[in-house]
Amino acid sequence: MRSCVFLSFVPLALAVRVILSNDDGWAENNVRTFFDVLDKAGYQVVLSAPVDNMSGTGSSEATPRAVFEGCRYSSCPPDSPATGYNSSDPRLNYVNSYPVTSIKTGISKTAPALWGGAAPQLALTGPNVGHNMGSRRARKSGTIGAAVYATKIAKIPAIAFAGKSIISAAWDDPAPVSSKVYAELALNVTSTLVASGTPYLPVDTWLSVNFARVTSSKCNNTNEFKYILTRIGSGYHEAPDVKWCGSTRLPTERRVKDSKSGCYVTISIGDANDKSTVDAARQAQVLPKLRSILSCLP
Ligand SMILES: *[C@@H]1O[C@H](CO)[C@@H](O)[C@H](O)[C@H]1NC(C)=O
Ligand SMILES: *[C@@H]1O[C@H](CO)[C@@H](O)[C@H](O)[C@H]1NC(C)=O
Ligand SMILES: *[C@@H]1O[C@H](CO)[C@@H](O)[C@H](O)[C@H]1NC(C)=O
Ligand SMILES: *[C@@H]1O[C@H](CO)[C@@H](O)[C@H](O)[C@H]1NC(C)=O
Repeated sequence: MRSCVFLSFVPLALAVRVILSNDDGWAENNVRTFFDVLDKAGYQVVLSAPVDNMSGTGSSEATPRAVFEGCRYSSCPPDSPATGYNSSDPRLNYVNSYPVTSIKTGISKTAPALWGGAAPQLALTGPNVGHNMGSRRARKSGTIGAAVYATKIAKIPAIAFAGKSIISAAWDDPAPVSSKVYAELALNVTSTLVASGTPYLPVDTWLSVNFARVTSSKCNNTNEFKYILTRIGSGYHEAPDVKWCGSTRLPTERRVKDSKSGCYVTISIGDANDKSTVDAARQAQVLPKLRSILSCLP
């Protein structure tokens, strides 16, 4: 029947409930542009992110406190409550605390209250302003801290996104080209994983995704980007990785960045227990889910 044919074209994203957070703050343009792109693609999204820039706060947590000085970019007035929302769009929420506390509040309270008690099915964080490549940044990043909390404690599969362009803009400024390109690339990774079916990721596994710098003359169009499967740290002393691109050692994120071979998206498969790269067995479970978008380094 015609109607059945039509139904098969309903985007897979339609029913997927997403909790979105970051560490740059709820009013940062990158995360708002991603919110809009996800919303247009049919995802049900709730944003729950810090009031201010909380970069580098890793997995810290603290009880939210009243916002005496107002939110970043004057996105809420002085003396606002410890948690709050945009009165014209209650899907947009702030929490005056660390990234982990903000995503935790969104997962346990805010999102279920908006979804008739239902829990998020996927946690997305970022795109972070500035890359999160390598073991040290992975441990320090609040954007990764929030994704790892979702995976390890809340048992919700998570992807942490970060972009090399350090362009900070308010939610109500025109979206910088980098924010738009990063949001579209992040949507592509998200939709590829969602289309691969549930479980989206193995237990205790998350993805760390980094985007190359966007400039006025280079990497300003999503079609120029190649998606590369990577490692977070070198793994020099570790067992082999999954066999891919003719090798059993995946390139590190930094090696891809330093290769300057083009416009790249690095995708590392993370272990929620220590923010390092997962073993080859779990890499092998995730690889088929992403294969359709992956390329090998030249
Ligand atoms: C946030 O704070 C960090 C550390 O203080 C700083 O390096 C970074 O540039 C700030 N980020 C933004 C988006 O303002
Ligand atoms: C709140 O939402 C309205 C409607 O979407 C928007 O115009 C306004 O800029 C938003 N403000 C903040 C701080 O999110
Ligand atoms: C994107 O880069 C191309 C060169 O590759 C340049 O011609 C174009 O003006 C740039 N577009 C934007 C929006 O920066
Ligand atoms: C996602 O990325 C792949 C690989 O570059 C590309 O072929 C595909 O068209 C992209 N899809 C969307 C919806 O952008």
